[in-house]
Amino acid sequence: MIPAEADYVRAVELLRAGELVAFPTETVYGLGADAANPAAVAKIFAAKGRPADHPLIVHLAGHDAVDHWAEQVPAVAWELMETFWPGPLTLILKKQAWVPSTVTGGQDTVGLRMPGHPVALELLRRFAAVAGEHAGIAAPSANRFGRISPTTAAHVQEELGERIQLILDGGPCKVGIESTIVDCSRNEPVVLRPGHIAPAHLEAVLGRQPAIETASGAPRVSGSLAAHYAPQTPMRLIAGQRLLDYLNAQRHKGDRCGVIGHSQPPQAGMPHLWRMLPADPVGYARDLYAALREMDHAGVSAIVVESLPEEAAWAAVTDRLRRAVAGSGQS
Ligand code: TXA
Ligand code: MG
Repeated sequence: MIPAEADYVRAVELLRAGELVAFPTETVYGLGADAANPAAVAKIFAAKGRPADHPLIVHLAGHDAVDHWAEQVPAVAWELMETFWPGPLTLILKKQAWVPSTVTGGQDTVGLRMPGHPVALELLRRFAAVAGEHAGIAAPSANRFGRISPTTAAHVQEELGERIQLILDGGPCKVGIESTIVDCSRNEPVVLRPGHIAPAHLEAVLGRQPAIETASGAPRVSGSLAAHYAPQTPMRLIAGQRLLDYLNAQRHKGDRCGVIGHSQPPQAGMPHLWRMLPADPVGYARDLYAALREMDHAGVSAIVVESLPEEAAWAAVTDRLRRAVAGSGQS
């Protein structure tokens, strides 16, 4: 799906006028504003209901813009950009003094990413053509604060439709979970948020295992709050071998659950709503948020997710599921 010419023109006009535009990226949909315009950026926080100390990612059209936003960019950061941009990798770098503190949540660092989605890149290029070649679009995920990130334009409409004037529709997101965040502002690169680009991929570039620091509760990364990406329906993780017993017990209580499985197929005779996700971590990540959203709307008493394998390849989706469980049930 590709937006019409007129949609791009309107999107750039809105951004120039300090308004918000939602757009697709390969990870999730973003809620964008001119990153150099603090009043425009403030509207993002208002629309999302997000606390002001949570920094935003600045999306760029290319590597050339990086020095405009960041300083003291270490060699490893350039290597990571070379390998993974455009793509689902955000780098935290020392910010240039001029970068508005509304964007950085008052920190001395800035998060930068060149997204790997044709619509996002087209929007960024067109915006830079009128706003200056290094212009960037600040964008968090286009959901209300603490809720599930949107992976389709319809999800954005449901979350923020009344608060924003334009949603560019680029079809469903291919990655489906938010970008991997690597902090390159310290002596050693540190993974702050796991994602599609896994430690093993980073290791291939860095020559060693990156440190991982995804502690919950830390305000530096809002995605690191324990209760994030959460449905309103109570949610729990149940091991595959216990799943059927558990669901049987729920049935006897008269409860209808929404079940998200990947290896345990649906059971005949159960009242539960059952959705099978792909049994590989890439496919699972792509479909997870849409499945959680569907379950959240289905009027089930609980969302029951079959626990995931322990392997490293599943770490990013496991991270999102744990946070969703922690934040679930708070309508
Ligand atoms: O895939 C993604 O990253 C999506 C798409 C739209 O690009 N964006 C996204 O944005 O997930 P958001 O705001 O929902 O999450 C961005 C994360 C937050 O956890 C934020 O705290 C962190 O990036 N972040 C941004 N700047 C930072 C900084 N200077 N230091 C530490 N963390 C930062
Ligand atoms: Mg978010």
